[in-house]
Amino acid sequence: MLGLKATTPTSWAKLVKENLDIFLTDHAYNEMKAAQSAMAVINHQPGNEEFVKTMSALAIEEMQHFEMVYEQIQKLNFKLGKEQMNEYAMQLRKFFPKTKDENQRFYQKLMLSSLIEARSCERFSVLAKILEKDYPALSQFYKDLFASEARHYSVFLNYARDFAGRDFIDPIWEKLLTYEAQLIRNLGKKPLVHG
Ligand SMILES: [Fe+2]
Ligand SMILES: [Fe+2]
Repeated sequence: MLGLKATTPTSWAKLVKENLDIFLTDHAYNEMKAAQSAMAVINHQPGNEEFVKTMSALAIEEMQHFEMVYEQIQKLNFKLGKEQMNEYAMQLRKFFPKTKDENQRFYQKLMLSSLIEARSCERFSVLAKILEKDYPALSQFYKDLFASEARHYSVFLNYARDFAGRDFIDPIWEKLLTYEAQLIRNLGKKPLVHG
């Protein structure tokens, strides 16, 4: 359903389970960054009413997720820590050649957001399974989040296809998925959403 070409090993989820405080802090900031990404694309299509409304609703939803993750942090008596660098997102951005073309930048942002949503989804489902026994409430939280992040993945990808055309997007998307799979195979060693 998500089209990803590599799956996250359960060893990653086990590492997260042992470092939930670090993971939840990272997750909280990821939700905040997702809100920022949704806001940032509005500027590319300010005259498109449906797009502006969809993206502002999405940004609000991501900040609600931030709030929800923060509640989980408090429930577990953890503290929200400092934001960490997202190596995965940085590497992912390198897939695209630098360009000053506004349209190209817009399509790149949509594809990157879509892929980051997809990978987050996949990881939440791997994590939910590992947490089921010892952290049932947190496990359920990740199962519930899966649905909204899966929807976001489609929203971004569908917009990329609508604006740039399927014939343009799909071959790039395919290559991006292959690139991402290579990247993710070397990760999974840090208790972070994309670590
Ligand atoms: Fe989210
Ligand atoms: Fe999302």
